[in-house]
Amino acid sequence: MTIISPSLLSVDFFRFDQALALLHRYGVSQVHIDVMDGHFVPNLSFGADIVRALHRHYEMRSEAHLMVENPEAFVPRFLDAGATEISVHLEATRHPSRLLQTIRSGGALAGLALNPATPLESLRYLWGSFDFLLLMSVDPGFGGQCFLPPLWEKIEQARLEIDSRRRPVRLEVDGGVDLDNVEELALRGVDTLVVGAAIFAQRDPEASLRNLLDLVRRVSHQKEENER
Ligand code: DX5
Ligand code: ZN
Repeated sequence: MTIISPSLLSVDFFRFDQALALLHRYGVSQVHIDVMDGHFVPNLSFGADIVRALHRHYEMRSEAHLMVENPEAFVPRFLDAGATEISVHLEATRHPSRLLQTIRSGGALAGLALNPATPLESLRYLWGSFDFLLLMSVDPGFGGQCFLPPLWEKIEQARLEIDSRRRPVRLEVDGGVDLDNVEELALRGVDTLVVGAAIFAQRDPEASLRNLLDLVRRVSHQKEENER
């Protein structure tokens, strides 16, 4: 089943609790937390304390997307804060297998993230080391950017590649997901859709969330029917 993982990056920082309460009311099971260090990406955002605070108040899964240099130094902090999923960028680490193993040993699901320009071939010796594959569909660093069209082909290839393996991993897409492309992405077999600006930068975040969830649920049901 395809799910939406709302990104908190575009939330009005003075209205955080309202945003979380909205997600909770609509049964959202997972939130996406973008961690930026001003080096790997030209922007700053959250640290591990937001994950800790989230788990203190809500029973949701937390996905920490680490867009940082030297992720080895940050993974233990996010494990300690209780992140249920942690993704690290292949472009940011020299020893991806070891790092992904550290995430798994710490009890979280391990995600490997690829920038738009990083080819799927780089995964050749890494399959089996991660639980989900995060394909960036914008260059990371900012919310509200436009989905890069070459990603359609990459998503299709990734889906085929995943389906050809015995141990399936979840396919996640992050960046520029909105009402115009969400249905097509779900149809093409993306399992987790990260959505930030298309919810929280809208005039009516509740209506936007409802519309996105409806579309994704409709596609998921349709696919289940077809597979029967
Ligand atoms: C971009 C972040 C994304 C971003 C998604 O660097 O990794 O998670 O917040 O936001 P939208 O949906 O606004 O592109
Ligand atoms: Zn992200």
